[in-house]
Parts: sequence; C-alpha cells; structure tokens
Amino acid sequence: MSVLGIDQVTYGATDLAACRRFFLDWGLTLVEEQAQELVFETLNGCRVVVAHSERPGLPAGLEPDPTMREVVWGVANEADIAHFRARIAGLSSFVEGDGRIGCTDPNGLAIRLQVTRKRAIEVQCAQTNTWSERARVNQPSPAYDRATPIEVGHVVFFTEDVNATAAFYIETFGFALSDRYPDRGAFLRCAPEGGHHDLFLLQPPQARRGLNHVAFTVRDTHEVFGGGMHMSRQGWPTELGPGRHPVSSAIFWYFHSPAGALVEYYTDEDQLTGDWQPRDFTPGPTVFAEWAIKGGIDGHTRRQVSAEAPSGAFMTDKPKH
Ligand SMILES: [Fe+2]
Repeated sequence: MSVLGIDQVTYGATDLAACRRFFLDWGLTLVEEQAQELVFETLNGCRVVVAHSERPGLPAGLEPDPTMREVVWGVANEADIAHFRARIAGLSSFVEGDGRIGCTDPNGLAIRLQVTRKRAIEVQCAQTNTWSERARVNQPSPAYDRATPIEVGHVVFFTEDVNATAAFYIETFGFALSDRYPDRGAFLRCAPEGGHHDLFLLQPPQARRGLNHVAFTVRDTHEVFGGGMHMSRQGWPTELGPGRHPVSSAIFWYFHSPAGALVEYYTDEDQLTGDWQPRDFTPGPTVFAEWAIKGGIDGHTRRQVSAEAPSGAFMTDKPKH
C-alpha cells in the first residue's frame, strides 16, 4: 500500500516549439500534439506533458511559468486509491475525476494519484567489471549516440518549509526519509524499499517556492554521457555535468530546460530498504557533487567545452561525407 513512483509531470510553458525540440532531443517520444499541449512518453510510458500556460484547467504553479504545474504519482490498484482517498478527502484542496484523486501539498504544488499507467519493460544495460566481479565477458561496453530515458525518477522543488512539506508526504502518502540537510533539505523515497529519492525538497537560505529539476532515469553511466553529448551537439546548455552525487551515489548531467528550471539524466543511485538509517549532511558544493564538469562536454570534440579540440578519429565518430 505505497506510492510506486512518478506517473506524469505537467509543465506550464509558453514556448511550446522550443519545448517540443528540447524533449525530442532529450529522447522522449511525442505521443499527442495539440495547439495547447504536447504529450511525451518515456520508455515505460511515464508521461511528460507540456501545456500552454493558458490551457484551461491547468493547476496553479509555485512560481511564474515556465515551471511544473502538477505531479501525478502512480499506485498499484483501485484499493490503493481508496486507501489514499480516505487520507486526503477531508482536505479543502481535494479533487477527484478522470481516474485521479488529488490535493495540493503544503508547498502549493498540485499532486494527483492514479492507478499507474506505466509499463513493465525490459531494457538491456551495460555490465560493469570490477576487481571482484567480472560480469562482462567477451563483450564491449555500449556507447550511446543519444539517450532514451526509461522514466521520470525524481522531482526536486524549492520550498519555504521543508519540515512541514516532508512531514506531509511521510504522514499522508507513506514516504520514507532517506537523508537530510537538517532544516534545509529532505530526500524522500515513496516506500521503505526503493531508489534513494523520488522527491527532494530543498529550502534555500532565502526561502522560496519553485521547481529545481526533473530527473530522468537512464540505463547506465554510458547513456548519461551519450545523452548529454547529444544534447550538447543540439546546442542545449549544460548547467553542470557530467558528475557524481556523493548523496545517492548517482552519476548525473544537468541541462537548462525551456519548460522551466533544469532536467537531469542520472543512473546508478543507491537502493535502500527499511534497514537504512537516514544521514544528516551539511549542504555545500562538495556534498552536491563529488566531482563535476562545469559547462559540460562538447559532443563533437568529446572534450570539456573549454578544452582544445583533439586531432584524429574516435571509434564512435560517424563517417564524414
Ligand atoms: Fe536529481
């Protein structure tokens, strides 16, 4: 009886043409297109909706567009919907319709629950050889021309009250605290057993509400690099990456998004169970990134953008015509 993960995120934006190009380059599939709405899907059917700011029925955002307007969480079945309906039906923000129930969290974000529409899929992932385990034999590691994200793995919001907002998700929806910056940040996972965080809430020194980033899970480290270099070739600016988070252990790459704030490719986050004891960290640059490349890697030269171009060919270069 727990929330499974993110089924859909809905952005409000005005430059739908730029968002269309961006998310196609990002590796999503455009499954519906109307004048005021673009609907993309990841590999497992997780939806990324970009709605025009003036589309009727769009919930209020935490800040001016472009930004996130709504997060839809998935549950297993109607019994789970009934379980959570009983928890939120008394809230003044309660809504129900189109197979969803929902409310507004203490930070002001519209959240919805639905029976998950994501599909169980099989994907081939790179095996990693270590000194003690040789999982990849007679087989080179893959190199990716671009990414095709599996799903939206987590969302991150600025909040004016991290403790109240985290308590809401823990008490109402059964989320578990994974780690925290005391009174500054809360890493939350949907259930005791799962990936390190599905939701991260961050209360900056000058408290504000808003979207920080939306993170897309990819197969392996190589897909973070391949996807990031493709985005760079298409001209999209890196915020930071590739790099590695010490909290969660994930390899990441962040880009600026025309749909608001940042998007992230990530892989290899820590998997936790109910035995995990939350840790306290003091926020800072070295806690955010063990290492990271400012400005990213240029997809043509395969080097840091500020580095000189190399001479000679690479195995992954395309034949030049
Ligand atoms: Fe992230």
